Amino acid sequence: MKRLIAFFVVLFLPLYAIAAEKQHIKTSEDQECFDCHTAETDLWNSGKHGLMSVKCVVCHGSTDKNFHAKPDINRCRACHWEKVADVEKKLYPKERKCTLCHTLHSVKSKFHSDGGK
Ligand code: HEC
Ligand code: HEC
Ligand code: HEC
Ligand code: HEC
Repeated sequence: MKRLIAFFVVLFLPLYAIAAEKQHIKTSEDQECFDCHTAETDLWNSGKHGLMSVKCVVCHGSTDKNFHAKPDINRCRACHWEKVADVEKKLYPKERKCTLCHTLHSVKSKFHSDGGK
């Protein structure tokens, strides 16, 4: 029995390490995301999410608890549930990324004349 448990620990520990989300460095309360991440903020500002104030924390969480270094499509569901359902219907789990067709942070279409930035 002990050997069996040890076997499963060895088997699943690496999986747990991969699944566990990366932590953000410590930040203080008077620091805003845009103080340190100007490039992402500029892109965000140039698109609809900036315009409509869909803030960084909506997708990334806060820098202490529930931080998401790599938000997946579940973070889009609350506002774009039809698009997410579409993607789930048409793409395999590994391919389910909105950035396949939309730019990151500026959320523009890659397939139209305004795209690519
Ligand atoms: C005091 C500066 C500072 C502040 C404020 C800050 N960050 Fe960061 N952030 C960093 C540094 C430094 C890194 C690490 C870069 C690296 O690992 O290469 C980082 C990394 C990240 C990453 C990428 C993690 C990865 O591994 O890919 C994300 C996403 C992120 N921050 C989002 C945010 C959000 C959202 C906020 C506001 C809620 C924020 N940050 C506030 C400095 C800051
Ligand atoms: C609509 C959701 C969403 C919002 C809002 C958002 N991000 Fe992101 N962010 C993402 C996704 C998705 C990734 C890429 C994750 C991956 O690599 O799979 C990302 C990646 C990042 C990274 C890692 C570097 C990179 O370019 O890949 C940083 C830093 C970051 N975001 C900062 C910010 C900051 C600062 C804001 C606010 C100005 C912000 N994000 C707003 C979804 C969002
Ligand atoms: C809190 C709500 C909210 C969340 C969460 C959210 N969005 Fe949005 N998104 C919006 C709003 C509001 C607009 C602007 C809608 C409009 O102009 O009609 C928008 C517009 C867009 C557009 C169209 C941009 C354009 O130029 O027409 C894309 C693409 C997009 N979002 C992608 C994403 C992705 C990808 C995620 C998840 C990583 C996400 N959104 C999460 C609220 C959200
Ligand atoms: C296979 C490509 C593809 C993928 C993957 C994709 N989209 Fe789109 N999306 C498009 C195209 C093309 C448009 C139309 C853009 C235009 O007309 O400028 C669009 C438009 C949108 C719009 C604008 C509203 C509308 O109906 O035109 C939103 C919001 C949006 N997508 C969200 C998402 C989200 C969220 C995801 C991920 C769950 C996603 N998209 C994944 C291709 C894609």
